[in-house]
Amino acid sequence: MKINIKRYLNISNKNLDKEPLKKVNMKNSNKVSKDWWKESALNIPKLITETPGPKSKIMHANTARYMKGLSSQVKLFPVCFEEGFGITLTDIDGNKYLDFSSGIYVASLGHCHPKISEAVAFWAKKLMNVHDFTTPVKEKLMEKMATILPGKLNAIQLYSDGTAAVEAAIRAARAITNKHEFISAYRDFHGKTMAAVSCAQMYRGETHSYGPTRAAGFYMVPRPDPYRPLWTKTDGTIDTDAYIRFYENFIIEGTVGNVAAFVLEPAQGWAGSIFPPEDFFPKLKKLCEKYKILIYDDEVLAGMGRTGEWLTLNHWGVIPDIVTFGKSFGNGFPVTAMVVREENGDALEKISASSSYGGNPMACAAAIASIEVIEEEDILQNVRTVGKFFMKRMQKMKEQHPIVGDVKGKGFLLGIELVKDKKTKEPFDEAGILVYQKAFRKGLAWIPAGHILRMSPPLIMDEKYASQGMDIIEEAIAEVEKEFGYR
Ligand SMILES: Cc1ncc(COP(=O)(O)O)c(C=O)c1O
Repeated sequence: MKINIKRYLNISNKNLDKEPLKKVNMKNSNKVSKDWWKESALNIPKLITETPGPKSKIMHANTARYMKGLSSQVKLFPVCFEEGFGITLTDIDGNKYLDFSSGIYVASLGHCHPKISEAVAFWAKKLMNVHDFTTPVKEKLMEKMATILPGKLNAIQLYSDGTAAVEAAIRAARAITNKHEFISAYRDFHGKTMAAVSCAQMYRGETHSYGPTRAAGFYMVPRPDPYRPLWTKTDGTIDTDAYIRFYENFIIEGTVGNVAAFVLEPAQGWAGSIFPPEDFFPKLKKLCEKYKILIYDDEVLAGMGRTGEWLTLNHWGVIPDIVTFGKSFGNGFPVTAMVVREENGDALEKISASSSYGGNPMACAAAIASIEVIEEEDILQNVRTVGKFFMKRMQKMKEQHPIVGDVKGKGFLLGIELVKDKKTKEPFDEAGILVYQKAFRKGLAWIPAGHILRMSPPLIMDEKYASQGMDIIEEAIAEVEKEFGYR
């Protein structure tokens, strides 16, 4: 027998009085001075031993004896961090680094932002977990999110890692459309569970042996990379229409006509901060409307201000049907979200959407405080302004360095592509690794990625430190050029 749960719910929205809730002390209201991190950043980088230092080496060796599957970031520079504040990280030997990675696109508002840390600590002492029952902080977060998200994106569920939100988005797309196929793009990344790896090509070659990983009904297509176009117009620039034509042909010929969604990062993070041409998403949106295919915009890495907008897709005026957030959303506290349009909210009833940790009070407090910091400290504007400075600086590097083939980015999502030869554009992976290690040794904590150097500095950073970080990178590039005989 099917139970009609609505009969048992005696809820009316009519007479809800919000006043009493406003009295709940949520520790989110303390505004912090915009300059909270500046004193701790004076005189960085400050190195007092070789790096990684002797204590780092011992601690890393002790840990790595048991902890396996470490990322290349750690393997290439096995340092042990003890503290982080604002844009600085301090290792166990007392060396202070300038942070150009925000963890891994996570602590975007600076390490241990006082407002965010206090909000989490407050709820850690008051209420830790009540599954998906309503709490005052959750109510506030829902209302806050509805104000920052475009269009009618306001049917929300919360999770504790990006991949869980991605999985939920895939289930939601199926529930909304009653269709089951998905199209994603070469070199996109969406996480490491089975549906997520089915939307990417993560496991290839000797280093990865999961066996066949792409589930049935998941397809991949090339996505436009302006530096390495597959199809060009007669003037040599990338031909977005050719990609769209290929997709249309693929939908007709390569699927069984049951495509639920295009699954895409708005800009490719892991692949090296690759942004599509300006006309790509508007044209893709038209194609998707024609075939009643949803656009699922995975903003786990690029969202929440990293490119100067709440959603990176905002840059191109496209409102997605589904969106996921993570990383910066809680500034380091594990909280993520999956959001669909209001008219599709019922689909979340069909996918058993809740989880054990999703939306716990600490998580909600971290997310509210992070959103409030972005607003109070005018972070979006800082990202746009300093982002332009970054681009100018990188353009100069491209002109002056024989191995810098391309520079790319918006806001604080940045990439420098290293090549062996500017004409052939052959990727220069060996140089990428060396530049990463050399710059880290000089006091820049950042992210390696093959031949594309990736940068994701904390969004609070000003031009002074942006310039300092770029100086270190440029110095490292020049040294590598010398070592490989380019100078
Ligand atoms: C675009 C994108 N989606 C999903 C994920 C997975 O998030 P998490 O590592 O929190 O599971 C990532 C992680 O890097 C990501 O970059």
